[in-house]
Amino acid sequence: MLHKVLNCGVLILAAGKGTRMHSTKPKVLQNMLGTPLLGYALFALKPIFGKKIWVVVGYGADQVQKAFPNELFILQKEQLGTGHALMTALPVLKAAGLQKVLVVNGDTPLATETIIRFLRDSEGTDLSIATLTLDSPADYGRVIRHKERIAEIIEAKDYDPLLYGPEPKEINAGIYLIDIKALDTLLPQLKKTNRSEEYYITDLIRLAVAEKMTVSGLNCGTDPTLLGINTPTELVRSEELLRQMKIRGLLTSGVILHSPNSIRIGPFVTIASGTEISGPCEIFGESHIAADVVIESFCHINNSHIESGAIIHGFSHLEDAEVGVNCLVGPYARLRPGAIMENESHVGNFVEMKKARLGEGAKANHLSYLGDADIGAGTNIGAGTITCNYDGVHKHHTQIGTHTFIGSNTALVAPVNVGNNAVVGAGSVITKNIPDKSLGVTRSRQKNLPIKH
Ligand code: UD1
Ligand code: MG
Repeated sequence: MLHKVLNCGVLILAAGKGTRMHSTKPKVLQNMLGTPLLGYALFALKPIFGKKIWVVVGYGADQVQKAFPNELFILQKEQLGTGHALMTALPVLKAAGLQKVLVVNGDTPLATETIIRFLRDSEGTDLSIATLTLDSPADYGRVIRHKERIAEIIEAKDYDPLLYGPEPKEINAGIYLIDIKALDTLLPQLKKTNRSEEYYITDLIRLAVAEKMTVSGLNCGTDPTLLGINTPTELVRSEELLRQMKIRGLLTSGVILHSPNSIRIGPFVTIASGTEISGPCEIFGESHIAADVVIESFCHINNSHIESGAIIHGFSHLEDAEVGVNCLVGPYARLRPGAIMENESHVGNFVEMKKARLGEGAKANHLSYLGDADIGAGTNIGAGTITCNYDGVHKHHTQIGTHTFIGSNTALVAPVNVGNNAVVGAGSVITKNIPDKSLGVTRSRQKNLPIKH
């Protein structure tokens, strides 16, 4: 691949506040289809560049670093513009021995295929940019071409039709492939003489043309993954375009989506063919759904794995959960982080699981809380069973063996072990371990007293 031959790395510009979002949150952390904006660029670029990716942070740097703890960061203390972000990063890029750098705006979703096409098209140039053609250039940088060749980019605020002619429809997508050596010549020439009083990375194009460097522009049409996001309106516009792209892709690959307009699926979710999903519902994060799964309406699923043949009945919430083959979930089930359902297990209505494993074929069908618990294969958890895992200070573990029967309305006060093939009498408060093949019961005997009228 080209980037390997030329020793190319990536610089993601993510230091801006995103003033036009009118939010205190750094723009690159704004949520789009369940994922922070910056996650999109990283996801698209990692398969090509691996670890050779640096992120420029500034406004809310701590928050961005916390949200992406495994990335390489460069701090731009003062945000004096996109050109200044590149100036700040240059020593790091040089120290890494890069010959070329792909600079991208962190507010743009990107797609691996588009980037590969851009890298191929940019071969042999000193500076290349990707462009889009829009009905209206909005607030994006206007691309000026002279006889088809890229001449310069004029930012929206600085565009004067009297000087430059009628507004062009071609805009700058904010993606640049630049020769590191060329930057030594070009960057010192950047000036803040514009309406924003910032160092614009986009001025590098005009400067490179003046230096007779090889400059090219790849027009990517209306590719929605290249639209920069600056305002809430642009965020929901891009979100909707990406949602539709994902839905189209899934339908084409054989996933049946009923009421597709009300189904929101994040970009990193994978779903195998033969699965059937009814809207409205949301599936986000790195969720992976195998073939022949049924997901009914009003489910919310995040970062969860669901194996084939499972049925997720309506109104269920799954977060960082694992659901095995042929499992039944819900309706109204809540699987919180660390919930693991082994194959053929059942979780019914109003059952909550957290850091708990339900063994193969085990069942918890009604009204239970299973937290910090391990439940063996074939065990039945009666309605209303609660693992009392929290003593007000610490969390404690409940261990339940295989083929055990926990009677309804049992409180298991952790830490506690219930053995294999054991039985717990309904309504018991279990504070002591129960050995294998034993009945544990803590109820007082029933008395029937006559009623005197
Ligand atoms: C930029 C381009 C514009 C292009 C558009 C595409 C410039 C001057 N203009 O405009 O031509 O059409 O992107 O989406 O580059 N950032 C920093 N440090 C700074 C300033 C910004 O890291 O000092 C980061 C931001 O966090 C953002 C990116 O750079 O992720 C682009 O900045 P933004 O303010 O969004 O630029 P646009 O106005 O969108
Ligand atoms: Mg922008």
